[in-house]
Amino acid sequence: MKIIIKDTKANASTAAFKLFSKGIKQGAKVLGLATGSTPVDLYREWVASDLDTSELTSINLDEYVGLSPDNDQSYHYFMQKHLFEQKPFKQSYVPDGLKAAADPEGVSAEYNQIIKDHPIDIQLLGLGQNGHIAFNEPGTSFDSITHEVKLTENTIKANSRFFSTIDEVPKTAICMGIANIMAAKEVIIMAFGESKADAVKKMIEGPVTEAVPASILQKHANVTVIIDEAAASKL
Ligand code: GLP
Repeated sequence: MKIIIKDTKANASTAAFKLFSKGIKQGAKVLGLATGSTPVDLYREWVASDLDTSELTSINLDEYVGLSPDNDQSYHYFMQKHLFEQKPFKQSYVPDGLKAAADPEGVSAEYNQIIKDHPIDIQLLGLGQNGHIAFNEPGTSFDSITHEVKLTENTIKANSRFFSTIDEVPKTAICMGIANIMAAKEVIIMAFGESKADAVKKMIEGPVTEAVPASILQKHANVTVIIDEAAASKL
């Protein structure tokens, strides 16, 4: 694992953007994208840049089950607002949360096929406080592919800050599996703030265990961890 520590989230996001831009300039065509508060600065920088996305394909990690694309808490909406409206891609894929409410297995199978048809060159990731990647919670098999996940209480609580009440947070999501993520040619994972320090330590220094999904990244041949000093404070 290559580890980059910057003093602030802003500087770490700039470093991540540079790495992403370099990969795109070197020919990356399929980008795996993430949501959450972590990549927001990176996307802001991307929107302000002259980096052209019109020939690129994006594939997002996950979507809440039951939320329509125009629901302002859906990951579809998040991506439109933070990146796609200003930087349209040739094609962009996000799991269909509404369709998944009726047919989670069908939507998962379709999404796996999409990933198979468009192998991911660079996968961007955030990190959950409990070490999750995308919505792959502790205990998820390292062999998992796109599937419906039941969110843990910890994740529902952490993500409730974006909803008016905790009861509005969906209980399940459709999410790329850990095997899909590991198949990406390059991975860039970012984590900021003290609340991520424990997960960062376990991801980098802990044993590789399904109890800490992100620890599997120790086995990936091309992964860069980009963190601020607060997230690095327990290393
Ligand atoms: C969610 C997302 C993850 C994200 C994580 C951390 O559960 N599914 O993709 O990495 O939260 O979120 P944040 O970046 O807001 O800390």
